[in-house]
Amino acid sequence: MRRVGAASDSNNLGSMKLFIDTGAVSEVEEIASWGVLAGATTNPSLLAKEDGDPGDIIRRIADLVDGPTSAEVVSATAEGMIEEGRALRELHRHVTVKVPFCEAGLAASRTLADEGTMVNMTLVFSPNQALLAASAGATFVSCFMGRLDDISVNSATVLEEIVDVLRARDLESQVLAASIRHPEHMVTAAALGCDVATVPAKVFHQMLSHPLTTAGAAKFEEDWKSRPEFGEWLNGLVADHKAKGGS
Ligand code: E4P
Repeated sequence: MRRVGAASDSNNLGSMKLFIDTGAVSEVEEIASWGVLAGATTNPSLLAKEDGDPGDIIRRIADLVDGPTSAEVVSATAEGMIEEGRALRELHRHVTVKVPFCEAGLAASRTLADEGTMVNMTLVFSPNQALLAASAGATFVSCFMGRLDDISVNSATVLEEIVDVLRARDLESQVLAASIRHPEHMVTAAALGCDVATVPAKVFHQMLSHPLTTAGAAKFEEDWKSRPEFGEWLNGLVADHKAKGGS
């Protein structure tokens, strides 16, 4: 598959930002501690699974990721979406208003974007929808990979077309790969030049694991332990560093 150039040309695989896709603060705490998160996405279904005040949850997640945190409107009208979006953005400086793709969503996106609010246009499943979302000022255009695959539409093909269409128009919107179900979706999204992928905690854990990493670490440990004096040497090195006031 052809690699599509993202905003910069050289290393697409390394330039895709990672958001966490969840309403669970405990999951954000865990993955944020890895130092890999640049933002978060929630949606009504994810928040509906959680106990507690949704506003507190969104604020806590935004604090933890210290980056764009999507909170979704649920009104059916543009006026309602705009009102909800204005209220949601007051929750935290990192709140990005998530708006569902539809006529009302486009109108709401334009108004909110013109007011300086970041909008994440969600439920985008085609390049034409992406073009409309970007033209309505959305900062993020969320293409749902898993849900496309669920109906036997090749999500990689659609995502590639979306990246192509937005880059060809030189639109500033960021392509966000959503509905990520497994690590292979991540590799595809990165290779196609997506700007962001929003990832469930389960997939972060799947990305972490590799049997050769586990085996390699066990072998290093075993070999080091075969030379106890080397362990003492390293402990001494650390102690000296601390004694000199090192952090
Ligand atoms: C994120 O913004 C989306 O709401 C989420 O990725 C949807 O994922 P799902 O299709 O697994 O529900």
